[in-house]
Amino acid sequence: MSREISLSDSSCAIILTPDPHTFSNYTAIEIKHLHIDLAVDFDRQVLSGKVELNLRRKDTHAPLILDTRSLKIEDVYLGADRAEGQWSFGEEDVILGKALTIKLRPEDDKVEIAYSTHANASGLQWLTPLQTLGGKKPYLFSVSEAIHARSWMPIQDTPASRFTYSARISVPPQLQLLALMSAKNPKKRNLKTGVYRFKMNRPIPAYLISLTVADLRFRPLGPTNGIYGEKEIVDIASWEFADTEKMISAAEQIAGPYTDLWDRFDLLIMPPSFPYGGMENPTLTYVSPSVIAQDRSLVSIIAHELAHSWSGNLVTNATWNQFFLNEGLTRYFEFLIMESIDGNRRNADMNRVLSYQRLKEHLNAVDPLDPDTRLVMDLSNRDPELSVGAIAYEKGYLFFQSLEDVLGRKAFLEFLRSYLKTFSFQSVTADKLIAHLQAKVIQGDKELESRLNLDEWLYKPGLPKAHPVIRSEEFEKVSTQLSRFIKSHDAEEIDTQGWNTLHWVAFLKSLPLHIGKPALVGLDKKFGFTQIKNAEILSPWFVLAVENSYSETYPSIKSFLLEAGRIKLIKPVYVALTHTPESLQWAREVFANAKPRYHPATQSVISAILK
Ligand code: BES
Ligand code: ZN
Repeated sequence: MSREISLSDSSCAIILTPDPHTFSNYTAIEIKHLHIDLAVDFDRQVLSGKVELNLRRKDTHAPLILDTRSLKIEDVYLGADRAEGQWSFGEEDVILGKALTIKLRPEDDKVEIAYSTHANASGLQWLTPLQTLGGKKPYLFSVSEAIHARSWMPIQDTPASRFTYSARISVPPQLQLLALMSAKNPKKRNLKTGVYRFKMNRPIPAYLISLTVADLRFRPLGPTNGIYGEKEIVDIASWEFADTEKMISAAEQIAGPYTDLWDRFDLLIMPPSFPYGGMENPTLTYVSPSVIAQDRSLVSIIAHELAHSWSGNLVTNATWNQFFLNEGLTRYFEFLIMESIDGNRRNADMNRVLSYQRLKEHLNAVDPLDPDTRLVMDLSNRDPELSVGAIAYEKGYLFFQSLEDVLGRKAFLEFLRSYLKTFSFQSVTADKLIAHLQAKVIQGDKELESRLNLDEWLYKPGLPKAHPVIRSEEFEKVSTQLSRFIKSHDAEEIDTQGWNTLHWVAFLKSLPLHIGKPALVGLDKKFGFTQIKNAEILSPWFVLAVENSYSETYPSIKSFLLEAGRIKLIKPVYVALTHTPESLQWAREVFANAKPRYHPATQSVISAILK
């Protein structure tokens, strides 16, 4: 799983790095602190300025090798005397970008790199005023996970490398925009100078560095949390996410004090083109507006991103092959938080069942021996974002659930706290987790070790036979109605009293894909799905509509695909549209219209589907 990089510089011929998704020699040279100084140019859609890196050199002969993607390097200066540095680019790799190699003198512990970004930087989205709610001002945001930080700064872009950072961001003052980062943030716009300063004094990996510049307002929710968003949405969002404070308390009961680690937990409501449901940028979680269903039914996403404050941001997967350590553990933790704030397990168990169903669906669709169904993956020479899926999230969740089932919740949570404490602000691999389990829990107990079945869970494809069985009373109610409907095809026959979004998602996803148009028309007539505003319901509904040629819904599908941008919700609809030549043709036309509004990540996922 390691890759070799041979440098033209013969002073260090070969460096082994265990992260296959970085060119950087992060074991030879550590970045201690990063300072970012950038000006935001909305007209040219570029960031330009410099980064300063403070280094700790473990190998004083090694040059500094950094990751970049479509960056323009202007100048490099070395050390306190700012001597002009020699640098060179390696060959371009479609997935990894280009290595930037900088020759260092033995005494250099500081490097300054002047550079600018390209208008199509993969980690940035530049929105025109018409793509915002306000309609008057441009909007810029970054998503650095997994390996997109390198498209907006030269850096060791590996989750194995952590550093503190500070920044100075300057925005044209006449635009009157607010700048926010994954750091200590301002609450108000600086209308005079447009200059903002930031500090993150905890060591974090590059994928957690974020920047947003837009016409934003702030509303406090509690003493240590609040909401940023365009003024048209902050109040609606404040109502939707009013339970955030409760979630923080619930999470603290499980994992320990929050503010000691990250100070604040603020939310930023993103524009609709934001490609994910949420993103756990430290101190400032990004949230897709698709989560605002106006009935608080999708708030588990906040629990998820909050959980990452520990599982992911405090203890981080050292490579993207180990992504389940971030996402699987976070899912487990997310469900616990939801259980606690709901005061019962009803919704949490529905979510657990949905998670299990996604896993089964995925495993049924691939070869039983598919190596990519192993928790610890091997993504060498492939896009690390291939790890974003049912294995890391849902099999990952089930693995941690199985540890809980075998050890008991109390003992497992004790272990979890000890794991988080021991590896605080470190990046880890599965072996570290196992070694810690051996030392703290297994302690030579062979019988316990065999029941935990760690080797099969972590390194074998598919699902171990003895896996947790997830049950949900609410889900059983859904199943009963589902059987009735499948028999009768009559929407009037089913009893859906008290159902929330989760029930509906479970119902729609469990319907036979080719149930037939009349059955769907009946459902639509009774429940008005096509007119609903809840994107989490619309997505599986439109999949059914497409699969059953319910063509009256196509205008609504078109608006949905033009307005939404969250990959998880639009991707299944596009996939369904590829199933007949006519609908594929139609999908290509819709995509041609939608593409300029989509985020670069969404563009590349959908382009691949419609190829
Ligand atoms: N960190 C992820 C989002 C992400 C993953 C961004 C990989 C870029 C690359 C975030 O925490 C996440 O998991 N979001 C989910 C939330 C859901 C599982 C509750 C999403 O966006 O759907
Ligand atoms: Zn996550």
